[in-house]
Amino acid sequence: MRAIAVSGPGADPVLVELPKPEPRPGEVRVRIEYASLNPLDWQVVDGSAGDLAPAPRSFPFVVGVDYAGRVDMIGGGENRFRVGDVVFGRAGAVGAAPGDAGATGGAGVPDACGTYGEYVCVPQDSAITLVPRGLDPRAAAALPSAGTAAAQILEAVALRGHETLLVVGAAGGIGCCLTQLARARDIRVIAAVRGDERSAMGSLGAAATVDLTAGPPAEALRSVCPDGIDALADLASATPEAFAVHAAAVRPGGIALSTRGTAAGARLPAGVRGVDFRIDPNPVLLDVLAAGAADGVLRVLIDAEFPLEQAPQALERNRAGGARGKTVIVLRAPGHC
Ligand SMILES: NC(=O)c1ccc[n+]([C@@H]2O[C@H](COP(=O)([O-])OP(=O)(O)OC[C@H]3O[C@@H](n4cnc5c(N)ncnc54)[C@H](OP(=O)(O)O)[C@@H]3O)[C@@H](O)[C@H]2O)c1
Repeated sequence: MRAIAVSGPGADPVLVELPKPEPRPGEVRVRIEYASLNPLDWQVVDGSAGDLAPAPRSFPFVVGVDYAGRVDMIGGGENRFRVGDVVFGRAGAVGAAPGDAGATGGAGVPDACGTYGEYVCVPQDSAITLVPRGLDPRAAAALPSAGTAAAQILEAVALRGHETLLVVGAAGGIGCCLTQLARARDIRVIAAVRGDERSAMGSLGAAATVDLTAGPPAEALRSVCPDGIDALADLASATPEAFAVHAAAVRPGGIALSTRGTAAGARLPAGVRGVDFRIDPNPVLLDVLAAGAADGVLRVLIDAEFPLEQAPQALERNRAGGARGKTVIVLRAPGHC
């Protein structure tokens, strides 16, 4: 099969030919149609994910965790899926290498199977579920990490209606989902972005949008939120110092959450609780998110699509910043033999 993989520590992801993985008992093999790109895909490879995801331990290491496609083989034993089922999900888990759920094969068969490859093997009881009728599989592929993170961040900050959530990095994959899910609960979202995204973020439900490049963020926040904010979801700040700048806007008793592991080392205002978020993918939440997306309640914004062979460029593009929604890697459009 064709896949984007790294051959060893420090190597760049490149297109390679690998043997197809074989499903073990309790696993399904999915013929992937779409994968979606997450920053963790390149952060894992270059070792910048910290303890959110350890560096690859075995090679070749196939990149990627999110996927949608069709079950094409079932491993031994009972299985809740059937060959031909159209499914989507997230392979692996934060805290484990993305491919740890993959199959182990003979010589040359990758034992770390990511989703930038034509086939992936995953346990039937992992974060995998059916794509509901009415949901485009490419949108399904874009949902697992971003949608799950957004929903679980919302639980972690525990806001009630009419409270205020500041989302830093709001125009990216998680931010677009989080803004919509928060708005649906009557939470007032302040979207902090780099650039003029007022129209795009407003259409997703943001009550106000702050351009972080237009001046000191504290001043802009004071003007839209003079009483301070109840919670921060910082999806962007890569250092505790940058995180602390945004956390300074949180009022005492509030929560300042980082998806980048920067809360623990940050100096936070008195009375503000820091949280380093950890995603916990599961199929039940995927069903809820997919139902919302199929009904049009949750819009899945796809920024760009790349064929598999251009995935290394797509990873570089994401690393450079500027994500607006999700990037999808196309492996095989449905119906294509
Ligand atoms: N802890 C966990 O369990 C977990 C789970 C999922 C994701 N994550 C992490 O969460 C982060 C966000 O994920 P994502 O999927 O939303 O990424 P994404 O789709 O790439 O979006 C990131 C957004 O942040 C903006 N941004 C980048 N640097 C910024 C800065 N310094 N200040 C303000 N905005 C900035 C980007 O746009 P501009 O460059 O135009 O500003 C982009 O819109 C990633 O680092 C990811 O690895 C962690």
